[in-house]
Amino acid sequence: MTVRRATEHDAAALDRLRADGHAEAVLWVLASNERARRFYEAAGWHADGGSRIEDFAGVPIEELRYRRTVANGVWDEHAATFDDEPDHGLRDPSVRRAWSRLLASVLPPAPASIVDLGCGTGSLSVLAAGQGHRVVGLDGSAAMLRQARGKQPDLPLVRGDVSRPPFAPGSFDVVLVRHVLWAVPDPAATLARWFELGRRLVLIEGRWSTGAGLTAAECTALLRRLGRPAQVRPLTDEALWGKPVTDERYLLVDS
Ligand SMILES: C[S@@+](CC[C@H](N)C(=O)[O-])C[C@H]1O[C@@H](n2cnc3c(N)ncnc32)[C@H](O)[C@@H]1O
Repeated sequence: MTVRRATEHDAAALDRLRADGHAEAVLWVLASNERARRFYEAAGWHADGGSRIEDFAGVPIEELRYRRTVANGVWDEHAATFDDEPDHGLRDPSVRRAWSRLLASVLPPAPASIVDLGCGTGSLSVLAAGQGHRVVGLDGSAAMLRQARGKQPDLPLVRGDVSRPPFAPGSFDVVLVRHVLWAVPDPAATLARWFELGRRLVLIEGRWSTGAGLTAAECTALLRRLGRPAQVRPLTDEALWGKPVTDERYLLVDS
């Protein structure tokens, strides 16, 4: 079986689990099967430390437990209308200009390598690519990625888990993440992995009037605990949001 077909089978199996309402999947891989382990790791699975010895025709064989989240149904459902919000779709030229200015003020000179984690419909990825950067977008939602692909078909997009991005440490100049940290189950562990991926973290977050999100104080405390103090910039300019906002929205840059 080619890697491409194996990847399609893996994605189809995950879609089936998702459709059946499962949030997490577990499988066992022979510890000695390096190739299979690399395949699953590249596809977003991670060894969770579990192991067992199975008896194969009298021969004891060690297996490792791999795990991954499969639930992203909520985001799939939002994909078709996600860009209707001015700051999501950046359709209004003045909103688009505001985000373009903001990105230019925190990104290194182009061309920098950037990973946009939880890229959603790819609005920021496309914007950064338009500024001459080499951008890869990653998201767990196939429907979100379809929207992103529709905006820029040649944009490199990866389907995967932001909590375990399938990239080698130090792969990027910048790890760009907007409105995603609040949604991950373990923000501290996830941030620690993002720090390994790139030299600069550009994090855009908020604590919205809906009650969802993380406050700037919560975020800065997390970063401080990880030894990466960051500058907070409140994002109060209504040009960014296409409307006046009263809740807390901010940007953090760690270097
Ligand atoms: C609020 S949207 C933000 C999208 C984009 N960053 C933006 O600002 O326009 C959150 C995105 O994160 C993705 N996401 C959430 N948790 C994820 C996870 N664990 N792995 C991969 N993607 C995830 C969702 O699929 C969704 O596209």
